[in-house]
This record gives sequence, structure tokens and C-alpha cells, in this order.
Amino acid sequence: MPNTPNELDAYWMPFTANRAFKARPRMITGASGMHLDTPDGRRLLDATSGLYCVNAGHGRFEIVQAIQRQAATLDYAPAFQYGHPAAFELAQRLALLAPGDLDHVLMASSGSEAVETALKVALACHKARGEGGRTRLIGRERGYHGVGFGGISVGGMVANRRAFGTMLAGVDHLPTTYSREHQAFSKGEPEWGAHLADDLTRLIGLHDASTIAAVIVEPVAGSTGCLAPPKGYLERLRKLTQDAGILLIFDEVITAFGRLGHAFAAERYGVVPDMICFAKGVSNGAVPMSGVMVRTPIHEALMTGPQHMVELFHGHTYSGHPLSVAASLATLDVYRDDGLFERARSLEDPFAGIMMSLKDAPHVADIRTIGLMCGIDLTPDPQKPGAKGYAMIEHTFHQSGLYVRVAGDTLVVAPSLIATETDLAQIRDRIARSLAAI
Ligand SMILES: Cc1ncc(COP(=O)(O)O)c(C=O)c1O
Repeated sequence: MPNTPNELDAYWMPFTANRAFKARPRMITGASGMHLDTPDGRRLLDATSGLYCVNAGHGRFEIVQAIQRQAATLDYAPAFQYGHPAAFELAQRLALLAPGDLDHVLMASSGSEAVETALKVALACHKARGEGGRTRLIGRERGYHGVGFGGISVGGMVANRRAFGTMLAGVDHLPTTYSREHQAFSKGEPEWGAHLADDLTRLIGLHDASTIAAVIVEPVAGSTGCLAPPKGYLERLRKLTQDAGILLIFDEVITAFGRLGHAFAAERYGVVPDMICFAKGVSNGAVPMSGVMVRTPIHEALMTGPQHMVELFHGHTYSGHPLSVAASLATLDVYRDDGLFERARSLEDPFAGIMMSLKDAPHVADIRTIGLMCGIDLTPDPQKPGAKGYAMIEHTFHQSGLYVRVAGDTLVVAPSLIATETDLAQIRDRIARSLAAI
């Protein structure tokens, strides 16, 4: 039949090898706890909490119920100039969880939107303070900050940038903190590399601090394969930015809500940034939700002008959506009641040991662990970079009963915080089985 699309054609899948997927699909039709279900009745162990978001495990009854109840009571409330009480309750709870005076919350739906929001607030804040010349944004090589134009501009992943033109003007980058030579097979924060923060001094020398609005980094770079901050690095970055009047933004879209054993990674490092982007784990992935925690002086700088006027011309139809808020409130209850952040802390060492035991498996070039997160670099096929990674996607799904996130030739393991040591060992065994087979 000419021109009849096959039934998978219409959906252009995100960050997916569409043609290969549609030739041999990997469908998921159900989920509970640590598992994903396939249409042919198999159960896959979920090694990456979906996409680092299902931190409390799949199908949590309390969260499902909260969403159902909310949908039946208030499906939507206009987000601009009107409010609904639960959004204020959630903001207050997040402010209590966040360190220091990160006491104000802007809400959105995705990590990308949270990043765009934080970058815009940085610019608006400087302008309100009479420092409108501070427009430059500094990201970092190998950083991932979503897919908006701000995010890909400050981001440092070439594949996400090269097709999309010149992006934002006035952006520069710090060097990546990763060096295999100095950090191979690191558990936790590597000893080497704190000095890399000093590159900010070079950028200040080049551009002058008076032109720089903000520095944005992930405390642990997630999407480029779990790159932990060297010991002392984030502290140094905080001091340098503070001394130069530059705002520091932590993109904690992955690291918040338990991944590193705390509500926010900022707490683990004893560093209070000026803003924190969050998403993913805040709602356990059940409904899209994200936001930005903002320090009080930034909020105050923008609370000016006539009372009847909008102070910040920014927001989304779905900012503080009732279902997202309900899911998030229920999720925070689960984290608290089940002690999941503490659980992540207690699993960090056994997890590191279990993952490091893959050191001598075929193809493994490096393994890095921190919190409940682990990057495993495979030696790429020089003729076909990414081919081994894709072979792992296929083999783990079809043969080993495992779902694991693969980016290029790197596997990222980030199990839910409910994982048992048996689950972790099974994840290791299934990865080993696929590594031996590809
Ligand atoms: C650190 C970081 N920032 C931003 C994003 C973008 O989030 P989203 O895919 O929800 O737009 C991600 C997604 O993985 C992320 O890891």
C-alpha cells in the first residue's frame, strides 16, 4: 500500500535512533517498584530510575492516589494572577528542604524550562540592581542543561549544539572536571581537579566580572556519564563567584531528591548557590514538574515597581499545575516517611563496590560512582563510535532483562533509592552478561 505509514512512523521520538528503534522496537507497557514490563510479559530491572526521575520506585500508590484525587477535584487553575493553595504549600516545603535562604520557588514542568528560568532570573536580577551590563553566562564543557536555547548555549555537549546555529551570544565555558588520566575508577569525589575551578579567574580576566551574570554547573554532570566534582571544586567555584558578584546556579535536575543522599547536592557539599534548578525526582517522574529555588536577595531585588504590576515577565501555563503539585507533595512525603535520602547514603558504599567489580569486564574503560549514580565508559569502536552503546541498549533489553540509560558509549546506572543490594548485584550481573555478549 503506497503512502500508508507504518504504525510507528508518526511519533518522532526524542533523543532516539528512530529508524533503528522502529526496525526493532523496545516497548514498555507497565511499571512497578524496580521493574518495567514489556508487552511480551517480560520484566526488566530498571537500572536508571526511568531517566533518573523515579527515585522512589515505580507505581507508588500514595503518589498515584494523590494525582487521582487532585484530577477529580481541581484539574487546572489559571497560573497567572490566580493561585491554588497546594502550590504555596509545596513551595514552602521545598524552601524548608533547601539550604540557606533558597526560600523562593519558581515552578515549571521540565528541567529545560527550569534552566531557562534560572538564566533569565540571573539577567533580570542584575538589571534590577543597576548592573545590566552583566549579561554573560558561563557554563561548562560536558555540561547538560536541557534543550532550550539557553540550555544548549551554556551546555557543553557538541552533539546537542552543532545543528542549531549560533545560539545565545556572550556565553563561555569552564573546562570539564573529568580527566581519565587523573581520575580513572574513582569512587566518590576525585582527589584531583579542584584547581579547574580557577579557570573562572581566567574568564573573569578575559571578559571582566562586570560583564558576567552567572555560572551554571551540575554538581555532578549526569548526562555526560556521571562526572563527580573533584574535592573542593564546588567550594572554590562558590568563593570565586561570590567575590566577583557573579551568581552561581546549580543545575540539580538529576542530583536533587536523594540521588546524592540529600534533598539537594548543595547540602552534601555545604555550598549554598544562588539558585538551584530541580525537576525529575521532585514528582518521582509521575507528572512533569520542575522549578528553580531562588535566594531571598535575588527575589527581593525583583520585588519592585507598582504593587499592581507583574514583577517578572516569565512563567508557563503549567507553572504549579495542580497535578504536578499534588504528585510532588505526595513524593516528598514518601521520601520523608521511607527515609529514602538516608537510604541512598547507606547504599552509596555497597553500590560503589558492586559497580567497581565490573572493572575487568570486556570493553570497560572507566567506572565512576557517586551517591547512587555510576558512569561506565566503554572503549568505543574507533570506526563506529556509539555502536557498542547501541548494542548494549539492544542486548540488555532483549536478552538480559535490564533497562539502563546509554549515552554514546557510556552507560549510566542510577537505580531508585528503594533498590536492595540484591537488585544492585543483579544490575551488575546483567550488565556483565551483556558486555560479554556484544
Ligand atoms: C542536569 C540537567 N538539566 C536539565 C535537564 C533537562 O531536563 P528535561 O529533559 O526535563 O527538559 C536534564 C535532563 O536530563 C538534566 O540532567
